[in-house]
Amino acid sequence: MINAVGTPQSLLLLGGTSEIGLAIAENYARQRPLTVTLAARPSARLDAAAEKLRGLGATVRTVAFEARDLESHPKVIEEAFGDGDIDVSVVAFGLLGDAEKLWQDHAAGVEAAQVNYSAAVSVGIALAERLRKQGHGSVVALSSVAGERVRRSNFVYGSTKAGFDGFYLGLGEALRPEGIHVTVVRPGFVHTKMTEGMKAAPMATTPDKVAQVAVDAVRARRDLVWAPAQWRLVMSVLRHVPRPIFRKLPI
Ligand SMILES: NC(=O)c1ccc[n+]([C@@H]2O[C@H](COP(=O)([O-])OP(=O)(O)OC[C@H]3O[C@@H](n4cnc5c(N)ncnc54)[C@H](OP(=O)(O)O)[C@@H]3O)[C@@H](O)[C@H]2O)c1
Repeated sequence: MINAVGTPQSLLLLGGTSEIGLAIAENYARQRPLTVTLAARPSARLDAAAEKLRGLGATVRTVAFEARDLESHPKVIEEAFGDGDIDVSVVAFGLLGDAEKLWQDHAAGVEAAQVNYSAAVSVGIALAERLRKQGHGSVVALSSVAGERVRRSNFVYGSTKAGFDGFYLGLGEALRPEGIHVTVVRPGFVHTKMTEGMKAAPMATTPDKVAQVAVDAVRARRDLVWAPAQWRLVMSVLRHVPRPIFRKLPI
């Protein structure tokens, strides 16, 4: 159970090699003995992530998870909860891809939509069913500022994140009467393998800083947070910029 100061005993990371997701797990593992379930595709990166968490004193197990295999998700969730309750579930899988390729290459665009949106809905529904049976728990859903107002420069990714964001905000409302809490986290540019080699955007941040925002938000049971927080103000302006002007902005 989450203790009096808001720290969980058990965590499920869907996207078990996500650098932001792992930073959240590591943050918690430094505070309290933690059981972590990493749901991910098998890889050397996954093994290394598990070892690092064990080095922090966590108990770690892995569950095979392929986001595109939607039908497998209820079983993945059952397996993840097989050893007992999970206090915090982090939905962290996703792909960015090449923005120009995503709208011109059918397979690439469909994969982004499947992984970032369809799989996120699929996992969210399976998670919700399990959490309702459990009767408690928090979900952290890693959305993006890219979904707040979709830009021409990465509109396929942005549109998947807009859908993701709406789904998890709605899921939070649906689960609220049952005492289950969902926090949607909207990071800006984060230095991870996802953005490796890209020119850093303004207000770029690190996985550890995003993790701290997420951990604080779960503790305070906040529904929606930005990382860094200044994005909230920036996007509240950008959201209202008329389209002909928005089109000309270098973003
Ligand atoms: N980095 C940023 O600037 C940024 C900004 C805003 C929002 N976000 C969002 O935050 C989340 C985490 O991003 P991150 O920066 O931590 O990225 P990351 O380190 O690249 O992690 C992405 C994760 O998604 C997993 N994944 C991708 N396709 C998958 C599939 N078909 N099946 C299973 N797993 C799959 C990857 O697994 P493999 O190791 O198997 O590939 C990896 O665990 C994402 O949803 C991302 O959209 C990131």
